[in-house]
Amino acid sequence: MTAPDGLVVRLAPAKLNLTLAVIGRRRDGFHDLHSVFVPLALADRLSLAVTGAPGSREDTLHVDGPDTGPLATNLVLKGIAAARAAVGAGPGRPPTPPLAARLEKRIPVAAGLAGGSSDGAAAFLGALDAWGADLAPERRATAAASIGSDVPFFLAGGAALIEGRGERVSRLSGVSGEVGVLLVTPAVPVRTPDVFAVFDGTRERGDGAVRLSSEHLAQELGNGLTPAALLDRAGVLAAANDLLGPATLVEPGLVAVRRALMRTLGRPVGLSGSGPTLWTLYPSRTDAEAAAATVDAAIRAGTIPTIGATAPSIIATTIDTHEEPSR
Ligand code: C5P
Repeated sequence: MTAPDGLVVRLAPAKLNLTLAVIGRRRDGFHDLHSVFVPLALADRLSLAVTGAPGSREDTLHVDGPDTGPLATNLVLKGIAAARAAVGAGPGRPPTPPLAARLEKRIPVAAGLAGGSSDGAAAFLGALDAWGADLAPERRATAAASIGSDVPFFLAGGAALIEGRGERVSRLSGVSGEVGVLLVTPAVPVRTPDVFAVFDGTRERGDGAVRLSSEHLAQELGNGLTPAALLDRAGVLAAANDLLGPATLVEPGLVAVRRALMRTLGRPVGLSGSGPTLWTLYPSRTDAEAAAATVDAAIRAGTIPTIGATAPSIIATTIDTHEEPSR
């Protein structure tokens, strides 16, 4: 969205992996995946403005929020730089002046929710908007993949089947109504490369059952599923992540937290991506909010253990059923 004063504002949604099958290791060190991603209503908010500051030559970034993460690993500046490189310079090309970016972070950092990748995608699309630049779809796709493996998903918008390293994105019809989601993110660092390294050290390939579950869900979501039908599958989906075992080897405390959540909530609990975020599905946002209050009380009472230095982040949200990419 471009405001009359030239300010570009975009929401950068989090994603949830409903399934994640690791097909195998590639020659480039990345892994081929088969994963169903859905966007969440939980989103960061990015604003971009062409900087009028005298003499400014570089893009700038200011981040607000309870957990902003290290600026050095933030993908906003990388997203703007990728957009500038893809537009190119020279006669006939629109000018790409420096941008001042402001990010309000609400998505937990390094949590398996792809908040950083979504910020990078929003910055890439927002920079093009701010400059009034257009790119052919193939150039967009190549530039997006250069920012990070999860970035192409956020350019497509909506639920999608993700294959390859993340660059093959097939849109799915998704869920036809509200699905509440409870996210519990323990305050422990679980680095994605470490989880994939444990996967490589312990397994040849992913579990065939996980892949079958992922293929089945992709087929079903391709035609569209009702919220009730998705909730019926929650038990299968909570087990359909090849990175669950490796993530618990990287952070053994996750096992006790997941068990305690299942016991407290009486529902299946899955891991998003490489974690450490644990998820539970509900018929509505209101139900997810009630579950968030239950988890908060159980953590205070000590019946759900706190791993890490502080209490986990507890967020109630929904699966986003809008069609547009990172509005
Ligand atoms: O592309 P991105 O920087 O988000 O990936 C972070 C890390 O996750 C990579 O360095 C790699 O270790 C791992 N990864 C992978 N296969 C993928 C995606 C990520 O091995 N498809």
